Amino acid sequence: MNGSAIRGFINRRVIDTGSRRLPQLLAFGVILAILSGCERPPTDTIQRGYRGVAQGLVYNPRIVKDQEAANAIPVALPQLPGGGPAAGSVFKNVQVLGNLSTGEFTRTMLAMTSWVAPKQGCAYCHNTANMASDELYTKVVARRMLQMTQHINADWKTHVAATGVTCYTCHRGEPVPANIWFTDPGPETADEAGNHGGQNMPSPATGYTSLPYDPFTTFLDSSTADANDIRVISNTALPSGDRKSIKQTEWTYALMMHMSESLGVNCTYCHNSRSFASWEASAPPRVTAWYGIRMVRDLNHSYLDPLSSTFPPVRHGPLGDNPKLNCATCHQGVYKPLFGNSMLKDYPQFAGPIAAPVATPDASPASAPGNAPATPATTRSDDDSVMAKDKPKPS
Ligand code: HEC
Ligand code: HEC
Ligand code: HEC
Ligand code: HEC
Repeated sequence: MNGSAIRGFINRRVIDTGSRRLPQLLAFGVILAILSGCERPPTDTIQRGYRGVAQGLVYNPRIVKDQEAANAIPVALPQLPGGGPAAGSVFKNVQVLGNLSTGEFTRTMLAMTSWVAPKQGCAYCHNTANMASDELYTKVVARRMLQMTQHINADWKTHVAATGVTCYTCHRGEPVPANIWFTDPGPETADEAGNHGGQNMPSPATGYTSLPYDPFTTFLDSSTADANDIRVISNTALPSGDRKSIKQTEWTYALMMHMSESLGVNCTYCHNSRSFASWEASAPPRVTAWYGIRMVRDLNHSYLDPLSSTFPPVRHGPLGDNPKLNCATCHQGVYKPLFGNSMLKDYPQFAGPIAAPVATPDASPASAPGNAPATPATTRSDDDSVMAKDKPKPS
């Protein structure tokens, strides 16, 4: 064999082995690609029910660590000394925060700016030449948001407990919260394609499953009795109508996927899979979640929807509807928003309507009339009678 023949032989061997390895390499690549969709171990399991009932919850400590960093609460702004007269008597157009002292009012504006519009500043809501003017839609929305936040903390303790929320819970430094929704018109389909019940259109709303892509319009933005009907498990032996059909069940599952994803938990955080319907077998958070569903409906119905014409068209959805909120708006992937850290102790003005002017030690009697209490009467009452008529009915 001469030199070039040997080289030719070697080259052929190399190519041969290469082409024989090619399928192996491809298979290896495919496996790698599939595994890259998995979470890297380790994982922790926490038991949340009696042993043997499979109510365990699987966590990845690495992911929890990242979440902890993302859910730290901002450092509270220092209280301003003194305080001064009630803001309502100093400024021209204060409708919600009027009973705060001027100092606390200013601190509130600074806090709101850092939570909602840190890059844009006061001018995001104000014409800085005339602070009293309501000409910017953002200020009108922000005033309603103030009332909404107080309403959540005062009237929905059944869900938010004493932890409560502030603007930061939803906004996290952005004027538009990361998680909002609009009615989804779905992809364009030919009319002949028929009614596919919203299926086979993987959507992030339902964790890219083949479940109906818009459970929100159905379940989270209406006060009608129909929207109330999330329950699909029949308690009669024979079929008793469309509400207990497989089609309806898929809508319920779509909502449940959203709830699980929003809280970063699986179904067994709330349910015992032996019987999804049974309240006795469920974990306590399921009752909190039940109130959460009613709260979200109330907030969309009473606060966001009426602002529809206040929001400019650029903030509207593809069908012209206003932005709305769901479980993810507050929770952002965590079982309790901000891991249950409360900001209300530093900002009691958000805990509920501010009933009386706040007296400060050096406020003159003229500016703080009467014997005003030292702290605003922020909580209305702990009784749940408002919601009592709505209590979940155990099956
Ligand atoms: C996210 C929107 C928003 C931002 C940002 C904001 N404000 Fe306000 N501001 C409001 C709202 C809403 C009111 C009315 C409150 C009420 O009705 O109780 C108001 C009222 C005021 C008033 C009273 C004006 C009057 O005469 O009626 C002053 C003063 C004020 N803000 C100062 C500031 C300053 C200073 C900043 C920046 C540090 C700021 N605001 C940032 C929403 C905002
Ligand atoms: C429960 C969640 C939640 C809380 C709490 C909340 N917001 Fe909002 N906010 C929303 C949603 C949802 C929108 C609609 C998003 C949009 O404008 O597209 C919104 C919109 C706004 C906008 C309009 C932004 C824009 O550019 O369109 C302002 C301003 C605002 N909020 C201020 C506040 C202030 C100030 C607070 C606290 C007093 C607050 N929000 C508390 C959910 C919340
Ligand atoms: C955060 C708590 C929570 C999680 C997580 C959760 N659910 Fe639910 N589920 C509820 C609540 C609350 C209801 C009752 C809703 C109502 O009556 O308005 C419910 C109702 C149901 C029902 C209807 C029961 C009946 O009476 O007909 C089914 C089925 C169901 N869930 C399945 C699931 C599945 C599957 C998952 C996981 C993908 C899941 N759930 C995750 C809280 C939860
Ligand atoms: C306005 C903000 C907000 C919205 C919207 C919201 N939650 Fe919550 N949720 C909270 C707060 C705050 C807590 C913590 C209460 C506490 O400390 O006990 C909480 C707690 C919970 C818990 C109890 C967790 C536990 O382990 O005790 C569940 C379950 C829950 N939410 C489910 C939901 C579901 C489901 C939705 C949507 C239908 C929802 N939440 C929407 C603010 C919100």
